Amino acid sequence: MSTATKISYRESHQYAAKGAEYERYYETQAWDRFLWSREQEILLGILEKYFSDRDVHLLDFACGTGRVTSFLEDRVKTSTGIDVSGSMLAIARKKLKRTQIIEADITVENILKPRKFNLITAFRFFLNAEPELRSLAIGELVELLAKDGYLVFNNHHSSGSPWIKLLYARHLRKNPQGIFNVMSIEQMEELAESVGLQIVEMYPVGFFHPPKVPVSYRLNRAIDNVACRFKSLNRLSESPIAVCRRRKK
Ligand SMILES: C[S@@+](CC[C@H](N)C(=O)[O-])C[C@H]1O[C@@H](n2cnc3c(N)ncnc32)[C@H](O)[C@@H]1O
Repeated sequence: MSTATKISYRESHQYAAKGAEYERYYETQAWDRFLWSREQEILLGILEKYFSDRDVHLLDFACGTGRVTSFLEDRVKTSTGIDVSGSMLAIARKKLKRTQIIEADITVENILKPRKFNLITAFRFFLNAEPELRSLAIGELVELLAKDGYLVFNNHHSSGSPWIKLLYARHLRKNPQGIFNVMSIEQMEELAESVGLQIVEMYPVGFFHPPKVPVSYRLNRAIDNVACRFKSLNRLSESPIAVCRRRKK
């Protein structure tokens, strides 16, 4: 039996160069830039659909370099970003103008209590967080969610996507000791339900991502535009976004 201690996802972005590496990734990877463009339009749609008649108090959990926070900060009344990585936050600090940036781990001590936020975002976090961290984090986030608030989170390796299935099979064949996390739509639902939330809307993102074949941005947009019209195709998308609120009693 191995005695090696498993490293928590909390540690994964802590090294000094990580923030700059993460930024570069979004500058150079066409697929991720495409996903980000879709995520931006979906975030705008969420603001319009759920918040058009009220002020937004945003908490961007695991905000990292401030990718999502910087897109939202000028569109909300108050903006708070929290992360455990000083290296990621160093980049966020350069970008963010109106956001309170906090370096802390609410899963160890929830220093944000008793504040409430009516929009909590958590992007690219739950998929890679180990099960214990996943449930601690969502448990603390729900404590911070206003009664009529929404938690918006994504899953950037949805197991329903044909390309993720392919990559996962290759991973099992070639490097089963390594890490390649996948998450299903059902696991997203279970995660929300575990703290009394329900997913009220699921936005599919990213349908056509054949590994190693470059696909143009325009073609990807066209495919997403068409595929999004068919609900039955939702679970084939690679990076769905869930909008959750408290379950009605
Ligand atoms: C892949 S990055 C995502 C950053 C940003 N949300 C985005 O979508 O660009 C994951 C982030 O989760 C952070 N993280 C890991 N454990 C955390 C915890 N317990 N509390 C807050 N942030 C955490 C990492 O430091 C890292 O910055």
